[in-house]
Amino acid sequence: MIRLLLCLVSVVHVAATDTTTNKPTTSKPTTKNKQAHSKSSTKDGLGRTTYDFCAVCHGETGEGKPNIGAPQIASLSSWYVKEQLLKFRSGVRGTHPRDVAGMRMRPMARYLQSDAQIDAVSEYVAQLRSARPATTLTGSWVKGQVKYQLCMACHGADGKGNEALKAPSLVGRSDWYLLLQLQNYKTGVRGASLDDPVGMSMRPITLTLSEQDMKDVVVYISGLR
Ligand code: HEC
Ligand code: HEC
Repeated sequence: MIRLLLCLVSVVHVAATDTTTNKPTTSKPTTKNKQAHSKSSTKDGLGRTTYDFCAVCHGETGEGKPNIGAPQIASLSSWYVKEQLLKFRSGVRGTHPRDVAGMRMRPMARYLQSDAQIDAVSEYVAQLRSARPATTLTGSWVKGQVKYQLCMACHGADGKGNEALKAPSLVGRSDWYLLLQLQNYKTGVRGASLDDPVGMSMRPITLTLSEQDMKDVVVYISGLR
């Protein structure tokens, strides 16, 4: 465990010093916010203790750390978190050579050995609450609203997602991360594997979107409440 944590901290340091705009991160797995977490309803605290490890990159309240490409994950549905952890663990996601951020996340999912641990941490993430991430993109809300018609069938008119279709909520998410994922689907970094039928259901729509369309639709989504 100690070795793993040391390795993690060094991953974060390397990642943070990659960027020019941010100071190197000095965060380490700490237990200082354990009390805040103790309200977790997850059984026997396994979700909370596992999350200490995730907090290094995703933040204590799941607010994300843009400087290392770690998105806000607070309040994502537990079924979606679980689904993505299983994809990272099996290598359906996070193995494409151009998927720099996904490859950073993948070893973390592989560290989660038991399904019980995955269930518990997914429940824990789902009950986290963080402030809405700051908006970073500019684009046309009006054009984005038109493009969003293409997304409603799966993500809902309100953007809150649809569990039956495995389409996640897009509300209150990091805009830079949503844009990156649209680009990833379009270029086949995500959702192109035959082992990923759910990802494949998302991909075709992105093939119809230009770079500007993607920005516009994300600007529109960022306004959904
Ligand atoms: C070393 C940093 C790091 C750690 C530690 C880490 N993650 Fe991540 N995580 C990332 C990055 C970077 C991404 C973005 C991947 C991408 O762009 O595809 C990510 C993506 C995710 C996603 C996908 C979100 C989405 O909307 O699809 C989930 C869920 C997630 N992480 C959960 C976790 C959980 C739970 C833990 C702890 C077990 C954890 N992460 C630990 C860096 C990390
Ligand atoms: C046919 C149903 C369908 C349509 C239409 C669709 N999506 Fe999706 N979307 C999904 C599914 C399913 C996923 C989860 C895929 C996975 O697990 O990789 C997803 C994932 C995403 C993600 C990644 C979220 C994350 O947390 O990583 C984004 C961003 C997204 N969709 C945006 C859009 C936008 C914008 C549109 C319209 C232009 C759209 N989707 C249209 C089904 C759809």
